[in-house]
Amino acid sequence: MSNNTTSETKSSNNNTASVTKSYPMNGGDGTYSYMKNSSFQREASIIAKGMIEEVIAKKLDIEKITSASNTFRIADLGCSVGPNTFISMQCVIEAVEQKYIFKGLKSQLPEFQVFFNDIGTNDFNTLFTSLPARRNYFANGVPGSFHGRLFPDSSLHIVHASFALHWLSKVPEEVLDKDSPAWNKGRIYYASASDEVANAYASQFAKDMDNFLNVRAKEIVIGGMMVLVMTATPDGVHRSKTGGGILYDTLGSSLMDMAKVGLVNEAQVDSFNLPVYAASPKEMTELVEKNGNFSIERMQPTDPLLRIDDAIDMQMCTMHIRAAVEEIIRKHFGSEIIDELFDRFYQKAAVYSQMDSSYKKKNLLFLALKRK
Ligand SMILES: C[S@@+](CC[C@H](N)C(=O)[O-])C[C@H]1O[C@@H](n2cnc3c(N)ncnc32)[C@H](O)[C@@H]1O
Repeated sequence: MSNNTTSETKSSNNNTASVTKSYPMNGGDGTYSYMKNSSFQREASIIAKGMIEEVIAKKLDIEKITSASNTFRIADLGCSVGPNTFISMQCVIEAVEQKYIFKGLKSQLPEFQVFFNDIGTNDFNTLFTSLPARRNYFANGVPGSFHGRLFPDSSLHIVHASFALHWLSKVPEEVLDKDSPAWNKGRIYYASASDEVANAYASQFAKDMDNFLNVRAKEIVIGGMMVLVMTATPDGVHRSKTGGGILYDTLGSSLMDMAKVGLVNEAQVDSFNLPVYAASPKEMTELVEKNGNFSIERMQPTDPLLRIDDAIDMQMCTMHIRAAVEEIIRKHFGSEIIDELFDRFYQKAAVYSQMDSSYKKKNLLFLALKRK
């Protein structure tokens, strides 16, 4: 089952007023669902597990942050439909429990409350019907955009977000403006586009990230932490030389091929861009430092796959990309083109199955921040 609605979230409060247009991953548990096509992200959460355990063991001051209550609150932002979110939440909880035990506080173990957040059109039914039966936390759903406020002041102890923060609150306006030097004609992404286009994306990401850090700073207790796993562009690597950049460009050129044979309208391609940006560690460092609400406890570029040198399974890769972006493409171009587009993408991307491993290295960023 694919979820056919768009989420437009208006969030307004003392700190921010933002309108976010977002599109959910494919819902349900069918062939094209995110549930069946997110093993890549799951592998990355396994890679992140050791770093999460270590950073909680070394950096989380449990006495300070839980002195007022015995409830430990964790939020997973952009959780999608599972099962990855369940694995990540279990990892965080076990790391916190270990910390209590290590400190000789086993008798004071807190109760855990987990908030599963995603946009309102996410398939929360699938998420909640597949919640692990044996779990040691109270589960809550929080619909809404993480670009705005989601929780009361100082109510969270740990925020986790994996493969979610690359979603911008909107497509940068300039890239859709024919009169702008940043007009992204004939492309749907910035990787192989001009510097003007890439700069427009970078500046939208910078605004979104500053806002994200401000709203989370309100919600996280002093000393509380954020652990973020993000798709990234390695420092010093051109944006067109990453696996993600190449694959999204290939999706764009598949659409342009369809425009050339009249299967879609070229103007439709020109008016479509993916609201997705992969920041570099350097950019993230600058943005977090400029924002000033959080200290950087760990910033670790890492490989997104356990076996980075293996050939890419293009069938699996196509299904993963389809599970993530089908809905946004469907909304713009209609349902009729979806199968044809992903068939063409699969054919065209086949040449990249032997992609040099340098294109895949350090495409993931693990980031641990502490609320000052
Ligand atoms: C690739 S999935 C990642 C899911 C899960 N965290 C994982 O690692 O497998 C990205 C998720 O982020 C969600 N998302 C995108 N923009 C969002 C926003 N502004 N607010 C909340 N969730 C958002 C999408 O709906 C999607 O479910």
